Amino acid sequence: MHSIAILGAGMMGNVHARAYRAMNQTSTLWIVDPVASRARVLAESYGAVVASFDEVLENDGIDILDICTPTFTHRELAIRALEFGKHVFCEKPIALKLEDARAMEEAAEESGKKFMVGHVVRFFPQYVRVGELVATGEVGDIVMVRLYRGGSFPSHGIDNWFADKGKSGGVFVDLSIHDFDFLRKLLGPVKTVEARSAALSSERKKDSFDHGMAILRFESGALAHIEGSWAEPPGMPVNFGTFYEFVGTKGMITNSYERETTLRLQTSIDGKPKYSQENPIYFDPYIEELKSFIRSIEGDSEVPVSGHEATESLKVALAANLSAELHRPVELSEVM
Ligand SMILES: NC(=O)c1ccc[n+]([C@@H]2O[C@H](COP(=O)([O-])OP(=O)(O)OC[C@H]3O[C@@H](n4cnc5c(N)ncnc54)[C@H](O)[C@@H]3O)[C@@H](O)[C@H]2O)c1
Repeated sequence: MHSIAILGAGMMGNVHARAYRAMNQTSTLWIVDPVASRARVLAESYGAVVASFDEVLENDGIDILDICTPTFTHRELAIRALEFGKHVFCEKPIALKLEDARAMEEAAEESGKKFMVGHVVRFFPQYVRVGELVATGEVGDIVMVRLYRGGSFPSHGIDNWFADKGKSGGVFVDLSIHDFDFLRKLLGPVKTVEARSAALSSERKKDSFDHGMAILRFESGALAHIEGSWAEPPGMPVNFGTFYEFVGTKGMITNSYERETTLRLQTSIDGKPKYSQENPIYFDPYIEELKSFIRSIEGDSEVPVSGHEATESLKVALAANLSAELHRPVELSEVM
């Protein structure tokens, strides 16, 4: 049994509280949020206890801190929690700057505690499945990939923090990082990034953008086109969607949110065409993700997404920001 404190009672705090309760693995759940009414409402919904950050740090009975706060607060909260000997789960993106992310990695190493970052796309059923198909060579070597992830502007964020690039990192760092991370895991290191961005919705702050495209060239030679958007019109019946297409030397795999989880596999091997469709069995990716973290604590094994992995994915997102700013391709080695 673990005693878990969730920092941040916003959208992700709610998602994580629901997941922990569904797993039934917590004796007591604690909620920390400087906005007392938010902490109280979330605590009441899940039979949790409201506490301050200092109280959960000082409480030796609490072994896990789960950070679901705005990204610009991650570094400070994670490092303090690790210094107090807590295992730390931190929502993605790990941080806004490489310097912050590396300080978090170091703190985790020094503490000897587990530190995992919430790159949850690795746990979504249709992404798990395409990962398996690619890894087993079902469509040969991957040559080109197209990914889309987008919806309307995340106006739920407290004080509209997503709108401020200095607080959220913008659409590449906050949203497309899911796809950058997934592709890095599947295809290996990225060499160069060429990106462009557009400022479309009225909710973003003046210096921010909310729609972007990035072309990633991997060291393997594969190319990926990644599009991320916070600029879809609000108030639509479906307000968020994803798409992928993996093209290999022997065929292709596609999946679109519009076709729910249906994954389409088309290959031509030795002149024999094959077509199949499948619906990967649905499971809650947030539960799977948090379960995997708890398993790594209990088994003293590597976490599935380490601080270092998350830092490398942040590097790709920062390269996209830089490329969009400079209007030229950026080598990953340029991003410090
Ligand atoms: N994995 C995913 O699918 C996913 C989806 C959305 C957001 N996120 C990430 O999750 C994080 C939180 O996003 P959100 O949408 O829940 O934001 P949000 O604005 O809905 O909620 C953030 C909450 O944190 C609280 N908070 C601020 N500072 C705090 C502090 N020092 N201690 C405790 N609480 C504090 C705020 O009062 C607010 O209630 C961000 O890093 C975001 O990028 C991940």
